Parts: sequence; C-alpha cells; structure tokens
Amino acid sequence: MRNKVTKAIFPVAGLGTRFLPATKSVPKEIMTLVDRPLVQYAIDEARAAGIKEFIFVTSRGKNALEDYFDHAPHLEADLIAKGKDKLLEVLQSTNMDSGEIAYIRQHKALGLGHAVWCARRLVGEEPFAVILPDDVIAADKPCLQQMIECYEETGGNMVAAMEVPADKASSYGILDVQEDMGSLVSVKGMVEKPQPGTAPSNLAVIGRYILSPQILRNLENKETGAGGEIQLTDAIARQIGSETDGVYGYRFNGQRYDCGSKAGFLQATVAFGLDREDLRDDLAAYLNEVVAARKAAQ
Ligand code: G1P
Repeated sequence: MRNKVTKAIFPVAGLGTRFLPATKSVPKEIMTLVDRPLVQYAIDEARAAGIKEFIFVTSRGKNALEDYFDHAPHLEADLIAKGKDKLLEVLQSTNMDSGEIAYIRQHKALGLGHAVWCARRLVGEEPFAVILPDDVIAADKPCLQQMIECYEETGGNMVAAMEVPADKASSYGILDVQEDMGSLVSVKGMVEKPQPGTAPSNLAVIGRYILSPQILRNLENKETGAGGEIQLTDAIARQIGSETDGVYGYRFNGQRYDCGSKAGFLQATVAFGLDREDLRDDLAAYLNEVVAARKAAQ
C-alpha cells in the first residue's frame, strides 16, 4: 500500500515584484480574486485532495499571511450579534485547526528548489505535495485531487502539465516526453526555462507536484540551475529513469490562470466573477457593454 499524501508545501516567500506597488505592504498571496485571497484557493484545493498538514515557506514581510489564517473571534462575535449567518459560515470555513498549519522561513531567495528544501524536516520520509498559489486552477474535480488519484496507481513523482504556446515555453519547466498515455505521460527529460527555440516540447510544468522524499535529498547539494537559482525542476529531473521513483507529467482537466502575471490575474478575476451566481448577471452585462462601446469607437 502506498503512503497517503497528507502534507503539502506552499512556497510563498517570493517578493511579488510584478505586482508593485501593491506588494510593498500586501503579500501577493493575500491579493484577492473576487473576495478570497489567492492562498485560500490553494488551501481549499489541498484540503479537497486529502491534505491534512499545510506547510508554508514564507519570508520577511509575510505577517499578513500568517494573520489571515488566525481565527478572528472579534469578527465572529460581531457577525453572530448581527445575525449574519451566511457571512459567519464563510468566515468559519477559512479557519484552520491548531497544529494543522506550519510556517518555515526561507532566509534567502535562492529559488523554488531551496524553498521546498527548507520544509524538509516537516515533511520527513513521506510523499508530499507542492502547490504554487500563483497557479490558480478552476476545475470540477480539483487538480491536486485528480493527480493524487492517478498517483495512487503510478507512484513516483508527478507534475501537473499543460501545453503552452511555443513562444512561451521559456517561462516554464518543460517536459521531454518519453511515452504519451493521454492524461499521463512518462518523462525522459525536464528543463527549467529553456532558451528560446530549444524547448524539447511545449508541455509545461504547472504549479502542482506530488514528490517523493528523495527529491528533498536531491536538493541537499544546493546545485544552481536556470537563473542562478536552486531549481525544483532539476531535483525532480534527477529521478528520471529510476525504476521505483520515476517522473510523470499529468495533463489535468481544468483551466489554469497565471495569477503571477497581471493579465492572468485580471482574467481569473473576470472568470471567477462570472462563475459566481450573485455577480454573474451584472458583470456579464457590464462586460458586454464595454466590448460593444469599444467596437463602436473603432
Ligand atoms: C515555477 C517553476 C516552473 C513552472 C512554473 C509554473 O516557475 O520553476 O518549472 O513551470 O513555476 O507556474 P516560476 O513561475 O516560479 O518562475
């Protein structure tokens, strides 16, 4: 019987410079899509997939993130007093149990691989998930749950994968596919941010991973890769070809939004707004109006 995946690492130490000046004082992960911070979508997805321990790798200036996960008794009391049951329910749905959540600091921005390695003692000798909250994935069955169901059959190491336009490949980790089995692909190579024109495919790694503890050992030597950073992709690539602990890509069902970019964040805001029953009609009417006005002005 394979070990269940019950721990997830959330690397949230980045400075979020692409969102300056907002990120001068607000951690990027707290920025809101409609009415929930990015990080709440990541937590909800992890919980749906059976994760029980949530490990955040943070950095200086992320206090607002830690506060967000605290209970808010004063707010709860206020909502109870005013009989606002629906809002109380929303608020309580974000509560984390004591001991469910842990914070580790990454003291230096040495790369994603290093951030994950910082959590090694909390992970120990079991498979674990990594979720990058910037990658928001809307799906009927949450992406990590899809992956865990597949992982229970395959074992090894699994990364979420998605085809991207060829001219965008240099922004991602890219898979070199050995065997394409539909949703699942086996991998014979992996390269982080390939130089333009050199990518082995256009199948990109998206920010969901299920990894074996061997990856943490591979990160131990702190080798630097693309951009002079310690790359998670490189540590995973070292497992390629292992009989027991190989590497797979998983083409998930769902729509991914790159909320690390302004355009992606705006698209996600519109899409999630249109998904909400209480906002849908007004927002759709407004968007139609704006588009029609633009067309008329051309
Ligand atoms: C990270 C990973 C990269 C992956 C990407 C997905 O890059 O290093 O392999 O394709 O996330 O969003 P980043 O976007 O943090 O530069």
